[in-house]
Order: sequence, then C-alpha cells, then structure tokens
Amino acid sequence: MKVAVIGTGYVGLTTAVSLAMNGHQVTGIDLVASKVEKLRQGISPIYEPGLDEALKKVLDDGALTFYTDLTEAKDAEIFFICVGTPEAADGTADLTYLLGAVSDIEKVHSLAPQERIVVIKSTVPVGTGEKVAGMLAGCQGVSVASNPEFLREGSALLDALEPSRIVIGVDNPQAAAGMEELYNGVKAPRVITTRANAELIKYASNAFLATRISFMNELARLSTALGTDIVTISRGMGLDSRIGPQFLRAGVGYGGSCFPKDTIALLRLAAEHNIHLSILDKVREVNNTQPVWFLEQLCLQLPDLKGKQIAVLGLTFKPDTDDIREAPSLKLIEALLQKGASVKAYDPIGASDVSKQFPQITYTQSAEEACEGAQAALLVTEWEQCVQLDWKRVHQSMAQPLLVDGRNAWPNQEVKEAGFHYIGVGRS
Ligand code: UDX
Repeated sequence: MKVAVIGTGYVGLTTAVSLAMNGHQVTGIDLVASKVEKLRQGISPIYEPGLDEALKKVLDDGALTFYTDLTEAKDAEIFFICVGTPEAADGTADLTYLLGAVSDIEKVHSLAPQERIVVIKSTVPVGTGEKVAGMLAGCQGVSVASNPEFLREGSALLDALEPSRIVIGVDNPQAAAGMEELYNGVKAPRVITTRANAELIKYASNAFLATRISFMNELARLSTALGTDIVTISRGMGLDSRIGPQFLRAGVGYGGSCFPKDTIALLRLAAEHNIHLSILDKVREVNNTQPVWFLEQLCLQLPDLKGKQIAVLGLTFKPDTDDIREAPSLKLIEALLQKGASVKAYDPIGASDVSKQFPQITYTQSAEEACEGAQAALLVTEWEQCVQLDWKRVHQSMAQPLLVDGRNAWPNQEVKEAGFHYIGVGRS
C-alpha cells in the first residue's frame, strides 16, 4: 500500500522503516529540513539498535523516501500521524503538532481526493480520534483510525516488526479492512475495537507497567529495612503466571518519554471526568521520591557529601538508547551537586546531551575511569559497559570501595568478595 508517515521521531521513523520492510511504499514526512536531508542519506537522528542498517536498506530499495512537504505523498492510501504529544504545562497532552498534521492532511486530501485512512499512532487522550474525525468530516472518503504504538526504545524496530498485539480503533468496516490489509502478514493478535477503547488501551498499558515498577520500588524500600532480597522476591513473584516476570525490577525509578508523560496525562484526563485515579497518583509519587530514597541510602554511608567525589554510571533513561528524557540520572546529579559532591559521569552515548544541562561535571571515557578516586560509585543505568567491570581494578582505584547499585545489576556476592561495601535497591 502507499503510506505516508508524518513525524520521524522514535515512533514515526521506526513505523516508516518497518512498513517499508514489510513491502509497503512509504513516504516519511518531517517539517525539519535538516533532519530530512540526513534521513535521505541514511543517517538516523536517533540511536536505535539495527535501525541504521534497516533504514539504508529500504532507502536503497526505494521503498522509503523522505520529504518536508506532505503534498509529495498526496496519493497515499494511509496517513500515519506519529508526531509528538508532549506534556503541556498543566500535565495534559499538548496536541498542537497533531492538529497541525490533521490540517495538512485536509489540504492534501482536497488536492487529491480518494478513499483513505488517517491513522493516529501518537499517544493521545481518549476522544482525540473522535475530534479528528469531526475535523475531517468534510473530506469525503476519509476514515480515522486509532492504532497505538507499544514499541520500547532500545528494541523499537523489533517491537514494530514483531508487535505483541495490533490494536485498531475504527468506526466502520472499510477502515478495519484497510488496516487489516496494511498489517497483512504481521503475526500478532488483533484487537479491533472503537477508537476510544484503542486510545485508552495505550494509556492504561503504560500506567499499569509504571504501577508495577513503583510497586516493586516501594516494596524494595521495605526489603532494605527487612534485610531481604528484592531480586529473589521478584523472581518468586514473577513465576506465578498470573503475575509474570516482566517489569518487576526495582531500581532508581522509571524515566523516558512515555511513562512520566502518559501517567500524568491519564490522571488529568480522569480528573476532567471527576475521577481521581488514586493508585496512579501514588505511582507517580513513589517514582518521584525513589531517587531521593536512593540517595539516602548513599548518605547512610557517606553522611556528608561535600567535597566527595561520586561516580555516576549510566545517564540515559535505560540502556541501548541515547534518550535522556526524564532520566533518573538528571535528578541524581542535580541532588549530588546540591549536596556539594563533585561528579564524574560515564555513559556510552548519553554524555553529550547531559553535558548541555550539567557542563560543570566531568565526563569520562569509561566506567572504570569515572570510578578512579571516587568515594562511591552509583549505577544508574544498567548499560553492559557499566555492569561488566574489572572489579579488581575498580577496587584499587577508588578512594573508598562503596558501590550503590540503582539497578540491582552488579554481582553483589562477587563485589562483596572483592572487598566492596555493596548497597542495592532492596538487596544487600
Ligand atoms: C514504554 C513502554 O514499555 C512501551 O510499550 C511504550 O510504547 C513506550 O513506553 P520505553 O519508555 O521505551 O517504553 O521503555 P521501557 O522499557 O518500558 O522502560 C521504561 C522505564 O522503566 C525505564 O526507565 C526503565 O529503566 C524502567 N523500568 C522498566 C524499571 O525500572 N523496572 C522494570 O522492571 C522495567
């Protein structure tokens, strides 16, 4: 099918590449000319494993082209809207980019009217699909579908090619058939439903995953107090098929472009309907206080951080991404600096973005280097380069052998045997 994808961020670019890989003729649209220029050369603006190679291949095959102007895609049967819906000042989702894309589609449709589906992939409040359908009511032959995206950064391409499920919200059988044709060949269970249901599935999924994490993080605080081991506890819980093993890892809290933004947007949406999602409120509260609790664990060993050198290992919100949005590392660095510590940080790819916010700290070329002379090393993001360390060398080079593991990813027994004092999140 002929497909246009508006927006070339994480979701848009991955969607465009995966659809092109699946045999569709795809046009990627982005307003930023410099980005389009780079994409045409096969240079991805984001770091995502496997994406560069896949992008080059579909460009070479002629299955994917990029433009700034949507009129270049005027004969597309499907228009995907994949623009950002950032958090507005009041916590609601800001739909400015989305509404801009809808009005561009309206113009292009009037140039070349035909049967087509406008698919909203951006995460949007319940009712947005309805609103967009109303805006496009005058465009004959246009249906509006909601098709939320569940991809995770770091495995975005794989998630797009092999999704856990395909959720399609439509209000007529032709649109459902068109979407089925688009995803023909992609093996995944389908949920064909209303637009509002599809929209809420996305928010509810992210809110539920965030809930699991905050539940485990709060339990980890208890586990620390009891001297139990949260890693063993989560394993024991996860083996119950009703619970499952995923998203039970305690740590310094969730970050990224989705969970923080989508949980507040869902709370605000509910509030507009006079519903207080009290559990979700607590989920956010636990997440906001988790870095504070984590630093308290450090301060139990080093009560006065003034003048102390602290190594911060891992800066991105999770491994295998260059994304630092809402990364716990940012809150931790800020708090460490406020307490008068000097920080040496390492991340395989996130350092340059963090250095724009924190030019005053030192960035090193390796995790081991960040630990040299440090009174404590904090693991904040479990990059392999921050986890697999030469413990003997690290022990020799640190001023004080104190490890505070914010991801429970360091081998606690091994490091203790190597002479370190080890503190995890809910384990020792
Ligand atoms: C998330 C959803 O997983 C995805 O379906 C949705 O489309 C977008 O939001 P993403 O933000 O890329 O994806 O990352 P994810 O792997 O979900 O991790 C989010 C945050 O939770 C990270 O900061 C991660 O470190 C943290 N996390 C995850 C935990 O602290 N513990 C866990 O057990 C799992």
